[in-house]
Amino acid sequence: MEASATSKLLLSDIASYVDHVPSNYVRPISDRPNLSEIETSGDSIPMIDLQGLHGPNRADVIHQIALACASYGFFQIMNHGVPEKTIEKMMTVAREFFRQPESERVKHYSADTKKTTRLSTSFNVGSEKVSNWRDFLRLHCLPIEDFINEWPSSPVSFRSITAEYATSVRALVLVLLEAISESLGLAKDSVSNTLGQHGQHMALNYYPPCPQPDLTFGLPGHKDPNLITVLLQDEVSGLQVFKDGKWIAVHPVPNTFIVNMGDQMQVISNDKYKSVLHRAVVNSDKERISIPTFYCPSLDAVVGPLQELINEEDDTPAVYRSFTYAEYYEKFWDRALATESCIDLFKASKT
Ligand code: OGA
Ligand code: NI
Repeated sequence: MEASATSKLLLSDIASYVDHVPSNYVRPISDRPNLSEIETSGDSIPMIDLQGLHGPNRADVIHQIALACASYGFFQIMNHGVPEKTIEKMMTVAREFFRQPESERVKHYSADTKKTTRLSTSFNVGSEKVSNWRDFLRLHCLPIEDFINEWPSSPVSFRSITAEYATSVRALVLVLLEAISESLGLAKDSVSNTLGQHGQHMALNYYPPCPQPDLTFGLPGHKDPNLITVLLQDEVSGLQVFKDGKWIAVHPVPNTFIVNMGDQMQVISNDKYKSVLHRAVVNSDKERISIPTFYCPSLDAVVGPLQELINEEDDTPAVYRSFTYAEYYEKFWDRALATESCIDLFKASKT
């Protein structure tokens, strides 16, 4: 049976019985992972020990962050303050969620990108031509009390564990935003103050084992539309970051997070920091779970390059015009997940 012809809503329920990738997941030859060509040794993204932020070495850590943001747009962090136990419980409950029977999972299914809690598949089933080898549960989580009653109540501990995790990761993000502001030569609260009422979303990404991982992506190359992403991944590799014309695999290190700049950080920093292309590949023998936290401005926040980073007289004019995050976010979801970022639509010259 051709799996794409089934009425299954979620990939998990197709992947478990196919021995080939259904045709709607097959990428054109020019747009495949080339798994044998990946840089696996040598270059990786920087690892930054956040312990030093809270003592006399703060300036040194800030400097490391500045270098990582400017040259990679990505870094890993250790001693980040989120308890090991909180991380472990989050990963376990995420795995339990996806292991539930189809009938339990599909209760949360929606293809409506505006819903604040939803389970879906691929990226945007409404706009894309080729599907991606991923199911995902997306949750809004700030303020928690506005959304927690929409979250899945099965497994029974899902809500409490996710709330604890989201609260802890938010505290970490606030520490990072202060450090990043300082790394741009600005007051600690500069970036945070541009976000209106802050927004925080999470995704629980589930990538089932794939019989032909060379033909498809878990997520194709993209840039995150939000401000900053803090990614937790399990022990299975899959994330790749684009650097100097090559894809670098970022292998999991226990109890660390991966941090990357999103499009709004690129705008706010007036191109000093770049939102960088990344993607997720799949493999034939292990499922993979990743849990990104997407920190973002509120939808009504007006985002633009920070005044302190603009000088119209010398060679640093504003690269972007101001816009509301709502305007940006809509553009992002409207398009199929594309390598060309929608940031170019917000260039100052295009007003
Ligand atoms: C994302 C993403 C990478 C991964 O969800 O935006 O880039 O490793 N995920 O799952
Ligand atoms: Ni991403």
